[in-house]
This record gives sequence, C-alpha cells and structure tokens, in this order.
Amino acid sequence: MALLIKNGEIVTASERYVADLFCENETITRIGTDLDAPGDAEVIEARGKLVFPGFIDPHVHIHLPFMGTFAKDDYTSGSAAALTGGTTTLIEMCCPARGDDALTGFELWLKQAEGKSACDFSFHMGVTQFDGKTQAQLRQIVQRGISSFKVFLAYKGAFGINDTELYQTLKLAKELGVVVTAHCENETLVAERQKELIASGKTGPEQHHESRPPAVEAAGVSHFLRFAELTGASTYIVHLSCREALDQAIAARQRGVNVTIETLIQYLTLDKTWAEKPNFEGAKYVMSPPLRDRSNQETLWNALRDGLIQTVATDHAPFDFKTRREMGNHDFTKIPNGIPSLEERIKLLYTYGVQTGKIDLHTFVNIASTQAAKTFGLFPRKGTIQPGADADLVVFNPEHQGEISVNTHQSKVDYSAFEGWKTQGRPDVVTVRGKVAVRAGKFVGEAGRGKFLFRQPRHF
Ligand code: URP
Ligand code: ZN
Ligand code: ZN
Repeated sequence: MALLIKNGEIVTASERYVADLFCENETITRIGTDLDAPGDAEVIEARGKLVFPGFIDPHVHIHLPFMGTFAKDDYTSGSAAALTGGTTTLIEMCCPARGDDALTGFELWLKQAEGKSACDFSFHMGVTQFDGKTQAQLRQIVQRGISSFKVFLAYKGAFGINDTELYQTLKLAKELGVVVTAHCENETLVAERQKELIASGKTGPEQHHESRPPAVEAAGVSHFLRFAELTGASTYIVHLSCREALDQAIAARQRGVNVTIETLIQYLTLDKTWAEKPNFEGAKYVMSPPLRDRSNQETLWNALRDGLIQTVATDHAPFDFKTRREMGNHDFTKIPNGIPSLEERIKLLYTYGVQTGKIDLHTFVNIASTQAAKTFGLFPRKGTIQPGADADLVVFNPEHQGEISVNTHQSKVDYSAFEGWKTQGRPDVVTVRGKVAVRAGKFVGEAGRGKFLFRQPRHF
C-alpha cells in the first residue's frame, strides 16, 4: 500500500513548505520535490491545498452511560464523524461508574472500539474510586498501554471521587509516570446551587449555568492543582471554560505545578445565551462546565495564541435532544450534559480562529494535533509530518465553503448545536496510516481498521 501526495503545502506546528509526501507501510517514508511512486501507488494531487498532520482529539466520549441514559454514538458512527472532520486519532474517556470494576470497565471500553473504529484510538482511564483492588488494576491497565488517568471532581455518586481518593490517585500517577486529567468543578457548590434554584421554581435549561458559575470551576481547578502540587503528579485540566479558572491554573503553573490546559471548541464559539434559547432549545447547549459569558472567548483565544492553553478538544458527548427533553423538561439538573462536536472541531477552529486572524496556521496545528500528541505520549508517531511518522494526513481545501447540519453529519445524535453555521475550508482527503479514509470530503474509511495506540508512561 503506497501513497503519494503531490505539491501540497505542508504545515506543521513549526514549518510550512511545498513538497511531495510518499508513504509506504503505514508511515511517511520520503518528503521532497518531484518524488516518484511505484505504478500501483495511489497518487493524490494537492496543489493549492494545505497538508496537515492528522488531527488529534484528546477528549471524546463515545460509549457513555451517564445520568441514566447513553450517548448516541458507537465507534462506527463516532470514528466516521472524527475522520470526516479531519481527526485521525481520538482519546476517549473510559468511565466505569463508581462501584464498577476498573479492569472490567477498561475491557468493556476496549471492546466497544476494537473491530469497529476506523480511526486510531486510546483511552484516559477513569478513576472513579480508589481502593487496594482498583490500585492493582490501574497498574495493570498502565502496563497495557494507558498512560493517563481521568478524575472527576464533579458528578459525585456517578464518576466523582473524594479527596482521599484524589490524593491516592495522584500519588500513584506520580509513581507510574501517568498524567492525571481532571474535570474541575466543586461538586458541593454545584449541588447546593442546584437545590436553591429548583426550590425557587427555576427549572429551565437556562438555569444550568447559574448553578455552575465561574467561581465553581475556579474552586475546582485550584483544589485539584493544590493536591497535584503536594504529590508532584503531572496534570491536565480538561475543558477549561473561563478566565477565573485560567487564572488559577496559571498561578499553579507559576508555582511549578506541571499542568497542561485544554479548552473546547464550544467555549471558543458559543456563549451562554445559546443555553437561554426559548422552548427548551437551550437544552441543546447544556454542558459542564457550562457555556460562559461571551467575554471569556477573547481570553481563551488569546491564551491559545500565547501558549498558555495547549489544546482544543471537543468533549464530544452526543446525547439526543429528544432524550434531553424527556429527561430534563421539568428539571435542568436531569438534562444529560454535553455538546457533540467531534466532526465540526477542525472546520470551526479554522473558520473562527485562523480565518479571523485570532490564531495562525502553526498554532492551529499545534493546539489541534501536536500538543495532544506530546502531552499523551504519541509524538512523533502522531502530531507531525516527518519521515517515520504514521501517515495520518489531512489534505485541506481552504477554499471550500460549507454549512453544518444534522442532515449531513456522521454522528447518530439527532441535532447539531451548530445547525446552519457556515464554514470555510474542509478536509478533502484524510488518511489513516497511509490509507484514504475520506475522499472529496466523504467518509470512505473502513470500520475496524483503527488501532489501539499503546502509550508508555513518562517521568517528567
Ligand atoms: O457536559 C459534559 N462535559 N459532558 C460530558 C462529560 C464530561 O464532563 O466530560
Ligand atoms: Zn467533564
Ligand atoms: Zn468529557
């Protein structure tokens, strides 16, 4: 299986040049001008197009039993959505419920993906309790190629852990060289505010952000990073949404805490007024942490440009609108949380970030691919274009004009939060280890071709 991509403008986190790319046996083997290929090689003409390393989404949910229901995608639809949007590697949150066995959970999540995923994948192992048995199982899971954990400070009773468990998890992570990713919101504050709002008859989706204001997230970030400081563990804040939380993370970083920060495409493009839409439409925009006041967007874009925030993910959590209505019509606390966006991330980041001049092309590649690869032990196999790297490539047409719609997306979820939004640019061709999975913007990939990516722990 050989592939030649000719005359494209290659853009990585640090370089930009016109060249041909030759790929064989799943990897990039040659980069140069006027390259030849054997007669049976597939040749793709990329003149006038940008060629990016495959994008990496470091925060995705596919199999997600949560709040009494299930998210809608499986790996067949989820990986098709990822690839159509230019994402060639995803890292899913493996989230066994509190009380469930960690190893059984890991096996279950692996089973959902293997044989079905068209793109490469890995997991952050959710630590939803911590005792002697869990500790032993986490050690085994790390040996099986998982080098990051996930903890929730929120969602007590479902995924959330207590402070003793948090401390023990961070100590184990430090010992093993594992990164601890964390959902940071103070659950006590959330619970108290939810009770107050519901008791005063404020039950609509527009109350969700009132129950989880920026101070709730900032308290979570500060708490988590103080624990990290004591243990010396490497950390990663998932879905940071606002300036108050960012201030806490930067302060911890200045004290020497090893912290990488992720924000989401939703926080960069949507604000809380979307969750205030009438007739329950706001429920499409319920996620945690919630959408914020619009002024936070400038803070987040600037922080990405300045390298203070390292990654942009999706936290794809595809709960149907229908289910949201059935479950949360009379009580916003029952609306399943999350805004799906796995397929839209790259187009939105390009349209609303690069095209508007908020970030340059190198930053675009860095925050959507390279930094995730570096943080989670996939670099330089993934996240860049160089000989020896996996031939995960995105031939991007910057002239394409599109429109987002539920009618054309690959995900099984019954709505798009970005319905009717115009986009500039799209992945025309996407390859997974040298094989075309998207052609002319259409998914042509192969379910089951995606591989589990073995990741080694690292001591910082
Ligand atoms: O609202 C969200 N973010 N839903 C998905 C679960 C999580 O917290 O990551
Ligand atoms: Zn979360
Ligand atoms: Zn999540």
